[in-house]
Amino acid sequence: MRQPLCLLSKEAISELYNQKYSEYEQLFSEHLSLNMARGKPSPEQLDLSEDILTSVITNQDCFSRDNVDCRNYGEFYGLKELRELFSQIINVPSENIIIGGNSSLTLMYDTVSRAMLRGVANSPRPWGKEKTVKMICPVPGYDRHYTICESLGIEMIPVPLTGNGPDMDMVESIVSNDDSVKGIWIIPVYSNPTGDIYSEEVMKRLASMDAKAKDFTIICDDAYPFHTLNGTFIEPINLFSLCEEAGHPDRPIIFASTSKISFAAGGVSCIAMSDNNLKIALPALQAQFICMDKVNQLRHAKVFPDIEHIKKRMIQHCDLLRPKFDLVENGLSEYLSGFSVAQWNHPEGGYFITLKVTKNTAKRVVELCKKAGLVLTSAGAGFPFSIDPDDTYIRLAPSFPSTEELRTATKLLSVCIILASCEYYLKEE
Ligand SMILES: Cc1ncc(COP(=O)(O)O)c(C=O)c1O
Repeated sequence: MRQPLCLLSKEAISELYNQKYSEYEQLFSEHLSLNMARGKPSPEQLDLSEDILTSVITNQDCFSRDNVDCRNYGEFYGLKELRELFSQIINVPSENIIIGGNSSLTLMYDTVSRAMLRGVANSPRPWGKEKTVKMICPVPGYDRHYTICESLGIEMIPVPLTGNGPDMDMVESIVSNDDSVKGIWIIPVYSNPTGDIYSEEVMKRLASMDAKAKDFTIICDDAYPFHTLNGTFIEPINLFSLCEEAGHPDRPIIFASTSKISFAAGGVSCIAMSDNNLKIALPALQAQFICMDKVNQLRHAKVFPDIEHIKKRMIQHCDLLRPKFDLVENGLSEYLSGFSVAQWNHPEGGYFITLKVTKNTAKRVVELCKKAGLVLTSAGAGFPFSIDPDDTYIRLAPSFPSTEELRTATKLLSVCIILASCEYYLKEE
């Protein structure tokens, strides 16, 4: 067992630095081209959904259960079978669900911009007419949520995640005192990137807390409900009914998609909301589209007639993903053992490993990796405006690269983590 790096003498750190630098130079000379930046499914995962490509829809066979011709306009809300499928995925009555296009993110952007333009249920006026609009962002979180806020001029309040959701004492204190806080982003299951699974207590508190803004909205991005990495599925917590029971039926707006079940950006998405919110959203949505792509909806309905088919597919994804996650986690343990320069989580699901390196070194680690041919998500991406106050978090996405690439990437990453820490301690007075 080595001594933690911070306890070594400067001479010993220097020696370690030189040794690791020659390993770095060796890897550098290999002209690597590796990428662990985004949570993309691998080609093998995409191959699992070949049945969507081969469930050929012919002129004779392009009709829904209700005999809707999927080639034609109609069915603004989406095919009933898809609404029922998503009802089982997100636990919302199918009448409150509208099927979208290939991207739930589009629906999220549209929802928040609609709130700015028209408000949501219980809004005294459109959010955009308020002097200031703020949203709570559990951190580290999903960078694209922040981009939506940034692009619409919404201020962001970071609140730390605890392992089972955000620090609810903080959330409650913020929302009860400030009526410009209009909402919170949540990813309740296998949160991107920390893997947090929101506990029942957290979900109940979110549903029932007193908010000064009467139109306080939970933007619930349920992107990973069945995305297990351990072969078991977690018991879903029904946010929609928790909010109803707590007397806040209009509080949640829920999103999901099959992007990481079937094809990324080639799947089907949905949005779900209360009747009151539907009344506000429908005129805007009906101005935007006549109906979404029912041909793709029908393909999905054929391949996933019910939730059991989704679960079966998710176990196949798990079988492909788990070995990759294990490889990275074991590699980090092997290469970094005894140095006390990093910690990482062991996610039970989702697409990411969250790595915490020595304070003030995350950016440097990402830079060193990039120079040697490994692209990582930029440091700070899990924070509003990409500002990680401690410069310590790095998000790893092991899904796309091959196992061989991951082996090299983990080695290079570990070398860079040690180098950046050495540099940091050598600079310290
Ligand atoms: C938390 C989260 N939400 C949404 C998305 C994007 O979903 P979609 O493909 O449905 O737009 C992702 C993709 O990585 C994600 O991680």
